[in-house]
Amino acid sequence: LHVAVLKGGLSTEREVSLNSGAACAQALRNAGFRVTEIDVGADLALRLSEVKPDVVFNALHGRFGEDGCVQGVLELMRIPYTHSGVRASAVAMDKPATKVVLAACGLPLAEGVATTAGEAAAGHLMAPPYVVKPTNEGSSVGVHIVRPGDNRYPQGLTEGWTADKPVLVERFIPGRELTVGVMHDRALAVTEILPATDFYDYEAKYAAGGSRHVVPAQLPEGVTEKAMALAVAAHRALGCRGVSRIDFRFDDASGELIVLEVNTQPGMTGTSLVPEQAAHCGMSFEALVTWMVEDASC
Ligand code: DAL
Ligand code: MG
Repeated sequence: LHVAVLKGGLSTEREVSLNSGAACAQALRNAGFRVTEIDVGADLALRLSEVKPDVVFNALHGRFGEDGCVQGVLELMRIPYTHSGVRASAVAMDKPATKVVLAACGLPLAEGVATTAGEAAAGHLMAPPYVVKPTNEGSSVGVHIVRPGDNRYPQGLTEGWTADKPVLVERFIPGRELTVGVMHDRALAVTEILPATDFYDYEAKYAAGGSRHVVPAQLPEGVTEKAMALAVAAHRALGCRGVSRIDFRFDDASGELIVLEVNTQPGMTGTSLVPEQAAHCGMSFEALVTWMVEDASC
């Protein structure tokens, strides 16, 4: 089978995707597939018509690769591809749209307001602590926490962002950061992420020693089962396919477990969360990517 691995691309998460793509391509080669790596740009359709792969392994993150755009090209070309389809990808990449769908399915969420950077900078939408996030970025790019007593507005909101940039203002949930990988209709495990700093930002995600992962997470009775059930419910609610990863906050004090977001193209480097959970379940990285190729469709 000839597999084209799509990597890189045009989003702010390009570097992460180059790492995911290289790791997946190597694992697929080890598993015996013929592999072509494609750094994705505007000529993608042309490249695919030259390469003529049997299956596309999508290792892209962020804009164009995770939001339904590339998925649309692959549907049109009738090439089976890994992960979610057009609609689930587009909805999951848009944080306010995700919340609407998940709320309709009764999943527990933080109260939030979809607005613009200009409105958020005025600071009157919610009492701190709250979080301001671009509606459609991954890897915590551009996420700001506003704490009580902050008298200066976070820089990103006044520098580099236009006033009409769409953002989500969301109640800050204190507590622990959990994540659950989902494979088809099965939750893999619950990982607790312990960032070295007090916020799991881009640095903490990708710098060496930036964070520690505990799998399985050590949680009070019943919380693991609940997080796993909510993860599968969120994956289904959005109509996700293949592998996804659902992020949560868990507050020990109140027992509150909140769904933060659904990642339809979770990180796939050798040290990423989903491969780590698969290993915990006895599944090697090679077995994981092989399953994803076999599960691909269009
Ligand atoms: N957006 C990054 C790649 C993740 O969710 O793993
Ligand atoms: Mg994300």
